[in-house]
Amino acid sequence: MYEPAGPAETRDFARAVRSGLVQPQKVIPARYFYDEAGSRLFEAITELPEYYPTRTETALLAQHAGTIAATVGPGRAVIEYGSGSSTKTPLLLTPLHAAAYVPVDISGDFLAQSAAALAAHFPGLPIHPVVADFTQNFRLPAGIAALPRMGFFPGSTLGNLAPMAAIDLLRGFAALLGPGSWLVIGLDLAPGPGKSVATLEAAYDDAAGVTAAFNLNLLHRINRELAATVCIDDFAHRATWNATLGRIEMHLVARRDTQFTAAGQQVSMKAGETIHTENSYKWTLPESRLMARASGWVPVADWTDPEQRFAVHLWQHNDGAMQP
Ligand code: AVI
Repeated sequence: MYEPAGPAETRDFARAVRSGLVQPQKVIPARYFYDEAGSRLFEAITELPEYYPTRTETALLAQHAGTIAATVGPGRAVIEYGSGSSTKTPLLLTPLHAAAYVPVDISGDFLAQSAAALAAHFPGLPIHPVVADFTQNFRLPAGIAALPRMGFFPGSTLGNLAPMAAIDLLRGFAALLGPGSWLVIGLDLAPGPGKSVATLEAAYDDAAGVTAAFNLNLLHRINRELAATVCIDDFAHRATWNATLGRIEMHLVARRDTQFTAAGQQVSMKAGETIHTENSYKWTLPESRLMARASGWVPVADWTDPEQRFAVHLWQHNDGAMQP
């Protein structure tokens, strides 16, 4: 059987591709988007005119950080999940008078760079970077053991998980952060009176083709890392709103009948057949409040932009209390 010689991540990628491409609905998990090229393309997506989540969330955080700080109080350790370049973090750290900052990210390089940039911005703030996949168990640094905590999970990253996995993750956050903690979480909103399906779909299928390149990069990555023979031109990007399941779905659609080998697996696809590459769930405000309650949190406040495109939520640990 084909086994790439490279690091564990490549072997894991090979396994996911091999098993995903023999299913009736072909699928490759979205986490494999983020090789170096994919991470750069994602950064470019966040600056697109159509991709409203990043700038809308940033504006909401800037507007409401003072209220958040007044509610949760000073002197907390802020734990940021999937901190990446930590661009939104200063908006909260300044008014919060945080006692420590714990960025958690799977990419050690990214983490070191952004921790250094933040250290320059906040001299005197203890920064404890943690290289970890936050969807798996990890330990908080001993240096924050005595501090009250606040989790920060921006970017609607939760949306890339299936609902059961999302609830499990939020439950894990509650267990790790513990009684007395708070969570600030950014979640993209479902279409509604101020937000059309067209707005949502355009955010995932921009005119400049950056999201298409991001999706197609997965095929380039398969060719680069798994000795594959995919003809990229045989595929097109598709992003559609699935109203029944409340999510944007991204697919790679075969433009014609095509065959290739990937990770030792022979694959044939008919014209029109797809590889499902990403789900991005969107929630109404009542749905996200319910999700908070189902996972050990009490929804305390939420803020949205005037067009109701995006929401920033403040949740408090339920401390094991029975809620009506
Ligand atoms: C990282 N994640 C929250 C993005 C999203 O909106 O679901 C990933 C993305 N996919 C296409 N555009 C952006």
